Amino acid sequence: MRTQVGIIGAGPAGLLLSQLLHAQGIESVILENRSREDIEGTIRAGVLEQGTVDLMNQLGVGTRMMKEGHFHEGFELRFNKKGHRINVHELTEGKYVTVYAQHEVLKDLLDARTQAEGRIFFQVSDVKLQGIGTYQPKILFRDNQGEPHELNCDFIAGCDGFHGPSRPNIPQAERNEYQKVYPFGWLGILVEAPASAPELIYANHERGFALLSTRSPDVQRLYLQVDPKDAIANWSDDRIWSELHTRLETTDGFQLIEGPIFQKGVVSMRSFVCDPMQYGRLFLAGDAAHIVPPTGAKGLNLAAADVQVLARGMETYYRTGKSDYLDRYSEICLRRVWKAERFSWFMTTMLHRNHEHSSFEHRIQMAELDYLTSSRAASLSLAENYIGLPMAFE
Ligand code: APR
Ligand code: PHB
Repeated sequence: MRTQVGIIGAGPAGLLLSQLLHAQGIESVILENRSREDIEGTIRAGVLEQGTVDLMNQLGVGTRMMKEGHFHEGFELRFNKKGHRINVHELTEGKYVTVYAQHEVLKDLLDARTQAEGRIFFQVSDVKLQGIGTYQPKILFRDNQGEPHELNCDFIAGCDGFHGPSRPNIPQAERNEYQKVYPFGWLGILVEAPASAPELIYANHERGFALLSTRSPDVQRLYLQVDPKDAIANWSDDRIWSELHTRLETTDGFQLIEGPIFQKGVVSMRSFVCDPMQYGRLFLAGDAAHIVPPTGAKGLNLAAADVQVLARGMETYYRTGKSDYLDRYSEICLRRVWKAERFSWFMTTMLHRNHEHSSFEHRIQMAELDYLTSSRAASLSLAENYIGLPMAFE
């Protein structure tokens, strides 16, 4: 089998890349080890930067998002039992915070790929990369029947997430990895209930962070900071609600609306960057190259930024035969990646209760929140990072 770009992984990075390449007349094949149902049913985050929304629309996959997504003009930072609104819309000259779940983005992209008769192999196994240091790299894999195949391509895009097989193919001596593991976990729930607030609320409380988000008028998404090693079995519904009520309480009588919890789980949090994001004919994009803690809502958006640079590089290569731009892929992406890493680390550090910290560091945290919500310069910096820094292609 042959294609121009072999893509490993049908997450946001792989699917957006395939769709972008298709729009430029470049052929790709996606290899994914999960089933389509599994991909469409996995609950992940749900905040899209303005640039990601624009990209979805530009690719013709934004219709349902524009109808069913929630467009917020701001969000709230809550501390000392008081809410402080960050008016993102006003601070960023008219941009919106779009809340639209990642698996809905994936459904729309999978539909579009299917309609365009894009080739996607689901439930593949034994994916192996060969010859990435040559001009004829290939991917070996078994299809869902266990049949072995060889996919010959010009380029391989490793869009296979943090645990995928692509990254280890960059020789260790060439690879610098930067990592921070946080002593926090997020317990996330999905609840059948109406929204308790019109916009997202990020709360810093002495018992730990809490986040109120939404999925639809009838389904809400909430998170609690917990110990990352804590078992979900320790968290009865009653305990979850009691903790959420305490952490989100305000002096002006905020009412948290309860409802049946139909999904819950704990995720751990880390920051991670692999530099370079490319080696020979292998290009890493999205979580395969970098991880951010979810506090800044940057994971999917960074994946979308990477693949825009990659698609531009490939388009330039096929049009001109020159690989100068592709050679700079890593350098161009990492400038944005590190700024998103900084922002996600900053939000995480500011909002979580860290038991390793002294009371001095706690006071600094409170001063940071006070500053952010009382200075226009600081609010503006927060808003422009949250909504997404401008896309840079140089
Ligand atoms: N073979 C084939 N596919 C694989 C393999 C493998 N060996 N290993 C992993 N994959 C697939 C996964 O099943 C998944 O569908 O690669 C895909 C990677 O998708 P994501 O993990 O979603 O990563 P990415 O596309 O970079 O998107 C980043 O999505 O996961 C969230 O929090 C993350 O928001 C961030 C964004
Ligand atoms: C979510 O709705 O899942 C969500 C929202 C904001 C975040 C992280 C996750 O910062």
